[in-house]
Amino acid sequence: MTHWKKCSVLILAAVFITGCAEFNTVFESQAIKSRKNLMRKGMGKNMKAIKAAAKSGDSAALAKSANALYKAAGKIKKAYAKKDMDGNTRALPAIWKDKGDFNQKADNLAASAAVLAQVWAKSGNKAQITASIKRIGKSCGACHKPYRAKKKKKM
Ligand code: HEC
Repeated sequence: MTHWKKCSVLILAAVFITGCAEFNTVFESQAIKSRKNLMRKGMGKNMKAIKAAAKSGDSAALAKSANALYKAAGKIKKAYAKKDMDGNTRALPAIWKDKGDFNQKADNLAASAAVLAQVWAKSGNKAQITASIKRIGKSCGACHKPYRAKKKKKM
């Protein structure tokens, strides 16, 4: 191969790879986008707010963010109702094989968030609040472990 030809093959390969990455983001299904959004904003953000409020002892903020987490958890079942793997997703096919168990895990999270919001948030009982937040964290992990793929290593 001449040098020029080698170069053009490399350029073509680069264009192809960039094209694929773009294809993935542009054509990612709405279902995947919204279920990831629900996790980031509904779960991640509220969990952060809960921990911050517990730390500063702001019981009103704690009740509010725990309630928001409870509501967001109630949306998980619908967000994963249909199997959709068409895009950049870490959801595992097992979700749709064991839908009953997956839904149960979503309910468990909702229940533990509700207990924090309605029972402990305004109690001022630090030990119970800490234990309650730990239980919530465990409910996240209990679902991620069987149903979410481990993070891919960055290239
Ligand atoms: C019933 C199952 C379930 C529960 C409960 C759950 N998650 Fe998830 N979570 C998933 C699945 C499945 C994914 C992968 C979604 C995807 O990539 O399509 C995910 C992804 C995420 C992501 C990454 C989102 C992204 O943008 O890629 C974050 C952050 C997250 N979860 C946080 C939490 C936190 C915090 C909790 C607990 C408060 C929680 N999750 C509870 C199933 C669950």
